[in-house]
Amino acid sequence: MGSKLGIGIIGCGIIAARHIDACKQLGEWCEIKAVADISREKAEQAAASAGEGTAIYTDYKEMLERSDIDIISLCTPPFFHKEPALAAFAKGKHVLVEKPLAPSLEDCDAMIAAARAHNCKLATVFQLRFLPDIQKIKRILDSDVMGPLVSAQMSGNYWRGDKYYDVPWRGKFASECGGVTMNHAIHTMDLFLWLMGQPLEQVRAEMDTINHDIEVEDWSTATMRFAGGAVAQATCSLTTVREGHEMNFSSQRHYVGFPYALHAVQQTDLGGAKMDREAIAELEQAALPTGDEPELPTLGHCHQYYDLFEAIRTDSEPMISGAEGRRTIEAITAIYKSATLGEPVSLPIADSDPWYTAEGIQRLVKRSGRGESAQESTS
Ligand SMILES: NC(=O)c1ccc[n+]([C@@H]2O[C@H](COP(=O)([O-])OP(=O)(O)OC[C@H]3O[C@@H](n4cnc5c(N)ncnc54)[C@H](O)[C@@H]3O)[C@@H](O)[C@H]2O)c1
Repeated sequence: MGSKLGIGIIGCGIIAARHIDACKQLGEWCEIKAVADISREKAEQAAASAGEGTAIYTDYKEMLERSDIDIISLCTPPFFHKEPALAAFAKGKHVLVEKPLAPSLEDCDAMIAAARAHNCKLATVFQLRFLPDIQKIKRILDSDVMGPLVSAQMSGNYWRGDKYYDVPWRGKFASECGGVTMNHAIHTMDLFLWLMGQPLEQVRAEMDTINHDIEVEDWSTATMRFAGGAVAQATCSLTTVREGHEMNFSSQRHYVGFPYALHAVQQTDLGGAKMDREAIAELEQAALPTGDEPELPTLGHCHQYYDLFEAIRTDSEPMISGAEGRRTIEAITAIYKSATLGEPVSLPIADSDPWYTAEGIQRLVKRSGRGESAQESTS
């Protein structure tokens, strides 16, 4: 790569620290020029860790005037992604947006269109895609070895206590834009939909708030039908004490799972399953790296930045583009719609559907009746 890319970070809270760390590790290719936060104290802390000479702004729009910034990293709460992204594109900056890309399909589409109109790159952070075992599973599912998928399952299991909701923007549809499905297990959902490799066609879902005093859901479960004929089951939980992502994918006779596991069977005379070691060896072969993978200091956010740098250098789409970020938002919107209406929902969700907009979701979505919205409505 030629000269270093200038980075500006908007939002200097918890996740910004990982962005700063990643950019410092990739110092050969980039340099943090400035940070912005409505809290001067947070901006100062971030600037101190980003390095000497990092400029501080409390109005991000002033930061966007700088000509030495090529990439804006958006680390603001979920309700405040679209506005700064559009402002950044208007100034010709590339944008890396923390998950979730935006609270609605309408906002995602506005961001994707603005990036295109200004000839800028839009990337969504889903750093788990770069885990070596996830990359192995992707190579297997992309190979011819598995054959068409028949069924699959995912569980995005998280646990958060009450103190987590002391941060004012969390726990409410207006600002967190959803619960565990939108904000935590969205990581698993992204991995799952990407690995499935087939368009999602139908969702039938339930959701509830079981163990927290919040208005957003802390549990959802959905059955899914895919365009290639596969069926799946997806659960998102903020009440599972042992956190982790679990996924499995089955074709006629082959299986791949996360945590990483391979299996394959042959049919016995009685129609039962007998382990097929040769087929498992073929899966193992398909999982091997191609040798084109970059060697980077750490996983996750580092890879995410490096991928964006490469997209800028080669004028190609980032691996996790705006369209990729949008895919999870469409699936989650379908889950919210189906769980609210108590009926199956077909995809794609049309732009004439009220659930296409943030306003429509806010107005219609099933709330728990707990948390701040309940207090407001009774006061
Ligand atoms: N990739 C991951 O694993 C991961 C993990 C945690 C959070 N996130 C995502 O990162 C984003 C931020 O989450 P967080 O936990 O860091 O939140 P946070 O509350 O710790 O930080 C957000 C920061 O944005 C600032 N902010 C709010 N409005 C602003 C504005 N108008 N201008 C400038 N700054 C503004 C706040 O003052 C705060 O410092 C969310 O979208 C969240 O979902 C991603």
